[in-house]
Amino acid sequence: MTRRYFLPADTTAGALGADALAEQLQGALHEGETVVRNGSRGAFWLEPLLEVEEGGERIAFGPLDGRQLGELLATDYTQWREHESCLGSVAQLPWFKAQTRLTFKRAGIDDPLCLDGYLAQQGFEGLEHALHLAPEDIVEEVLRSGLRGRGGAAFPAGIKWRTVAEASAEQKYIVCNADEGDSGTFADRLLMEADPYQLIEGMAIAGLAVGATRGYIYLRSEYPRTWEVLHRAIGKAEAAGYLGDNIGNSNRAFHLELRIGAGAYICGEETAMLESLEGKRGMVRAKPPLPALEGLFGQPTVVNNVLTLAAVSTVLADGAEAYAALGMERSKGTLCLQLAGNIKRGGLLEVPFGMSVREVVEQLGGGTRSGRPIKAIQAGGPLGAYLPESAWDTPLDYEAFAGIGGMLGHGGLVVFDDTADMAAQARFAMAFCAEESCGKCTPCRVGSTRGVEVIDKIIAREDPAANMTLLEDLCDTMEHASLCAMGGLTPHPVRSAMTYFPEDFCKDVGEV
Ligand SMILES: Cc1cc2nc3c(=O)[nH]c(=O)nc-3n(C[C@H](O)[C@H](O)[C@H](O)COP(=O)(O)O)c2cc1C
Ligand code: SF4
Repeated sequence: MTRRYFLPADTTAGALGADALAEQLQGALHEGETVVRNGSRGAFWLEPLLEVEEGGERIAFGPLDGRQLGELLATDYTQWREHESCLGSVAQLPWFKAQTRLTFKRAGIDDPLCLDGYLAQQGFEGLEHALHLAPEDIVEEVLRSGLRGRGGAAFPAGIKWRTVAEASAEQKYIVCNADEGDSGTFADRLLMEADPYQLIEGMAIAGLAVGATRGYIYLRSEYPRTWEVLHRAIGKAEAAGYLGDNIGNSNRAFHLELRIGAGAYICGEETAMLESLEGKRGMVRAKPPLPALEGLFGQPTVVNNVLTLAAVSTVLADGAEAYAALGMERSKGTLCLQLAGNIKRGGLLEVPFGMSVREVVEQLGGGTRSGRPIKAIQAGGPLGAYLPESAWDTPLDYEAFAGIGGMLGHGGLVVFDDTADMAAQARFAMAFCAEESCGKCTPCRVGSTRGVEVIDKIIAREDPAANMTLLEDLCDTMEHASLCAMGGLTPHPVRSAMTYFPEDFCKDVGEV
C-alpha cells in the first residue's frame, strides 16, 4: 500500500524540529512510502505536524517529537490512531473548521514547489481568466471585489491599479512588499513558503492589468528559507511559461526578480523600499508624487503587499462577487490573522472580516499560554495600539478599528497577560522608533529618543505629572509633524498604554 508522510519544511516547523523528524522518517521508510515536505497549515501550536495519507485518508499527529515518532514507527500502522499525538483529520479540528480559507486554501496541502499540485488545486485559473480580459476589465474586477491593501493602510487595490494603468510610460513596474517587519506577523512568509505560485500568479495578473512587464519581490533578509522557495518557484514558473516573454502563450511579457532587503523596518514603507530597490539607502520620499505615478526609477509602479497580490488570483479565479460576498461593510473578503505573543494556540487564522477580537483570541486562540488573564492585545504591529478589555468586542473591520483609535494593519494580534508592564511597552515603542527611524525628519528622529528619556523619568518618579504632560506634547508633535507613518503612528502604542494602563506608569498618576 502506498503511504505518504507530510512534514512541513517551512521556517516555523523547521525551528520546532520538523527537519530532524523528516530525517528520522526517511531512515525508516518501507517500499512504496514517501516523505513530502509540504508547507505549514499555519497551526504553529501543533508543529511539527505530521500527516499520514493512506487509502485516500489523511490523519495528523502533533505536536510531534522524536520520541513519539519513534514510538509510532515501532508500532503497527493499524494502532497509530491510538497514539497520544493523533489528532484525526486536520480539516475536522475546530481550529480549522472555524476558518474560511481563500488565500491560504492550498497552504500545507502539498509540496509548495509542485506545479502539478498547484494546477490541481485551481492554480493559474485566475491568470488564465485574466489573459482573456482587457486590462481595464481586470482592474474593474479587482475594484468590484472590494479588495483593500493588506500591508497596513488598507487602500483599495483596484484604485491604485487604475492609477498605474492610466499613467502613460515606456516601462511600468509591479513591486511586491515582502519586507514583513511588524511584530507578531508571519502571514507573508507563510504564504510565500507554503504557496509561492499564488504570489507569482497575482503579480503576473497585476502586470497584465496595468501594462507592467517587470516585477520585483522585495524580501526581508531574515527569511532565507523563503528566498530558497521563491527562487526555485520563479525558475519553475519561467520554465513552464507562466513568467517570461510569452506568459501563457499570450505574447505578453512579465519578468519577475527577487531582491533582498538588509533588515531595516523602514524599508517596508513603500517609498523607502523603492529607494532601497534602486540601490540607495532606505530613506522615505516625500509624497506626492505617488509611487503609482512616479515609483521605481521614476516610473508608474504598483506597490502591494504579498497578501494583496495573492488574493488577486482568487478574485480572478472565483469572481469579484464571490470575494465581496464575504466580510462586512467596506472590509470585504477574508482577513489573515496572526496570533502571537502569550497565546495558547498561536498561528495563522483566515476568517471573514467581522469576527470580534475576543472571539478570535479567547475562543480560537485559547487565551494566554501562561493561563493568566489577558491584559492587553496589540493589533497592527509595533505602531498599533494596546487594546484593553473594553475594546475586545470590536469587530475585525478597518473602520471599526479606526473608530477605537486602533488599526488592523497587517493583521497581527500580539497578546499580553496580566504580568506585562505597559510602561515598559510604551518605552519599547519609542525605542523601536528611535532604532528604526530613517532620520529624515526631526519629530521622529529626535522625538523618539527624547520620548525614551521622558518615559524613563516617569518610571523613575521624576516629576511624573509634568513629564506625563511633556510626553503627551511630544506625542502630539510626532503625530502631526512626522513625514511618514513611522513617526506619525508611534504615539499610538504610547498613548494607549498611558490611557488604558496609567497605573503602570506611576502610582500617583491619579493626580496627573
Ligand atoms: C514604517 C512602515 C513600515 C511598513 N512595512 C510594511 C511591510 O513590511 N509590508 C507591507 O506590505 N507594507 C508595509 N508598510 C506599508 C507600505 O508603505 C505600503 O502601504 C504597502 O506595501 C502597500 O501595499 P498594500 O496596498 O497591498 O497594502 C509599511 C509602512 C510604514 C509606514
Ligand atoms: S517619520 Fe521617521 S521614518 Fe518617517 S520620514 Fe520621518 S524620520 Fe523617516
